[in-house]
Amino acid sequence: MSQLTTEPYTSHLHEAIQSLEVALPVLDSGMDQDEEWIVVNTECGWQKIRLHDYGDVYVVPGLYEKWVYDLFQCRSPQKVADLLLPAIQEAGQAPEDLTVLDLGAGNGYVADVLRGRGIERFVGIDIFEQAAAAAQRDRPGLYNDYVVGDLTDLPADQESLLAQHSFNCLTCVAALGFGDIPPSVFAAAFNRIENGGWAAFTIKSDFMSKDDRSGFSRLIRRMLSDGAMDGDVHEPFVHRVSTDGNELVYEALIGRKRRDIPGGWLAFN
Ligand SMILES: C[S@@+](CC[C@H](N)C(=O)[O-])C[C@H]1O[C@@H](n2cnc3c(N)ncnc32)[C@H](O)[C@@H]1O
Repeated sequence: MSQLTTEPYTSHLHEAIQSLEVALPVLDSGMDQDEEWIVVNTECGWQKIRLHDYGDVYVVPGLYEKWVYDLFQCRSPQKVADLLLPAIQEAGQAPEDLTVLDLGAGNGYVADVLRGRGIERFVGIDIFEQAAAAAQRDRPGLYNDYVVGDLTDLPADQESLLAQHSFNCLTCVAALGFGDIPPSVFAAAFNRIENGGWAAFTIKSDFMSKDDRSGFSRLIRRMLSDGAMDGDVHEPFVHRVSTDGNELVYEALIGRKRRDIPGGWLAFN
């Protein structure tokens, strides 16, 4: 896999990415997407870290970027930006009119890409405290606020932080399913967006198939058919390559929220 480091990282982050020593398992190791791991040389010696143990990933500066964006060639944030910005402009809005709720924000890569396209206000939310700390460490000042917790059950201080903002855009990139964000949290975030606001998210194509058991396929189809969201853009794309070198196909959905998701639509989960 080739190394791509053409991103607009700060020199500090760029240096951290360049200096990391990592090794991946052999190709054709046959592991599932939520089992992928890497070994990385840290101050404490070589450590094996599972990608889905995000808290452990984010504490190593540059590891997420090197692994996901350089080695695995993930371009999902750019894909979402490429689809969202023209849609906004076509609707006669300016990027600086948006206040984005960035769900599963991680260390801020997605918001960083969108800031590069002119969006200025972001509030991040992630389940891991280490994600918030990494965003502050690697991209200080990017988020107006960063909330940590489960959106369906936030601690009071985090809820009051979030309540200070009103949102007209939801982004959620590479964070739905796989034991990460469940449909209930996605619905709670969607319901925080004002009617007429934007929703821009990606989801693995398997979770959109008719035999999906995560609950996302039914929920998203219902959102589109029963008027919660206008699905103006719905595009399959290669999210990244896997440890085995296979292309992982996701779908990007961009549309406008028309009404809240009622609780009853989640009853099957
Ligand atoms: C693959 S990372 C994607 C990060 C970022 N959106 C990006 O594309 O670079 C998935 C993120 O979802 C977060 N996450 C997992 N479960 C969550 C939940 N229930 N609520 C909020 N964030 C969650 C993880 O901590 C992780 O930061």
